[in-house]
Amino acid sequence: MTADNQAAIEVHGLFKRFVEVQAVSGVDFDVRKGELFGFLGPNGAGKTTTINMLTGLVRPDTGTIRIGGIDCSHNPKAAQRLMGIVPDDSNLYPELTGFENLCFCGALYGLRKAVRQARARELLDTFSLVEAAGRKFGGYSKGMKRKLTIAAALIHDPEILFLDEPTTGIDVAAARQIRQLLAGLRGAGTTIFLTTHYIEEAERLCNRIAFIVSGRIVRTDPVTDLLRQTSGLHVMQITVSSRAPALCQALAGAFPRLKCAAVSDVQIRVEAAEPVRVGELVHFLEERGAEVTEARKIQPSLEEVFVRITGIEAAAMKREKEKAGGGS
Ligand SMILES: Nc1ncnc2c1ncn2[C@@H]1O[C@H](COP(=O)(O)OP(=O)(O)OP(=O)(O)O)[C@@H](O)[C@H]1O
Ligand SMILES: [Mg+2]
Repeated sequence: MTADNQAAIEVHGLFKRFVEVQAVSGVDFDVRKGELFGFLGPNGAGKTTTINMLTGLVRPDTGTIRIGGIDCSHNPKAAQRLMGIVPDDSNLYPELTGFENLCFCGALYGLRKAVRQARARELLDTFSLVEAAGRKFGGYSKGMKRKLTIAAALIHDPEILFLDEPTTGIDVAAARQIRQLLAGLRGAGTTIFLTTHYIEEAERLCNRIAFIVSGRIVRTDPVTDLLRQTSGLHVMQITVSSRAPALCQALAGAFPRLKCAAVSDVQIRVEAAEPVRVGELVHFLEERGAEVTEARKIQPSLEEVFVRITGIEAAAMKREKEKAGGGS
């Protein structure tokens, strides 16, 4: 019963099981009013399941969700009026035009005809979709579809916007436009909850990030705190032609101050609290018969923090996602 009126979203003890899979296993977090909160995690982590429970599309097994202070299990309709929802797959009608889709959504939220038409025109303009306004939604490109889906979610000027991977699978220009729009909405005071697997996106946009892995939040931190952890961290990536795990073990034995990990059979990752002497490490490996094909320092970023927190290689996470059908 915490009546913190600064919290836009309050989630406690959320669990969800699908027949064979425990998709969400005890998720707790709060999102403050006006905050842009990111849910970052790999495939199957439970991001969509969580956002679907927050927006009322999936019923949790246990747990409480309060949106704008309203308990969603008691008053789902009132909670939904506060929300704009952008699902990972569009929910708009392929047979209606862009303009008609927006007006239809406006009608669902009870906007008067003149108001919803004016708002639809305004949003089409914001998203550079004026020329496509009279075309059927089904014929839109992926990026145009995503933009119109976001426009539709904004038709009633919601207090809280939920977006499930808003920039996945669309081109760079459309993704950039969406990020700029989200930054603008945040500036205007809209609370935003978004899921993403793009670390750079979370880093650039979010105030706070929750890392979700296997249905559990492993960490929630302000982006500024996460980035602070990267200062003073030195990271290097060494590529060898083979035997990375064995070479990595030898490195770790000889240089106890370094944290070494074999990322694959050909890649070693070295972390240290002080600058690393590249030449010394390459020499050591070559003396043990390794063929070092590349050794480079990596600028520590949020990605490094993510790897340390979750043990998941961010690049692998992105590749996996694109393989799964996200590619533009
Ligand atoms: N309707 C469903 N029926 C059965 N299993 C499901 C269902 N929805 C999700 N799951 C399972 O729950 C787990 C979490 O899935 P979820 O879609 O929430 O992950 P995600 O983090 O959104 O992943 P992605 O990055 O691929 O979108 C997965 O193992 C998934 O297979
Ligand atoms: Mg998902």
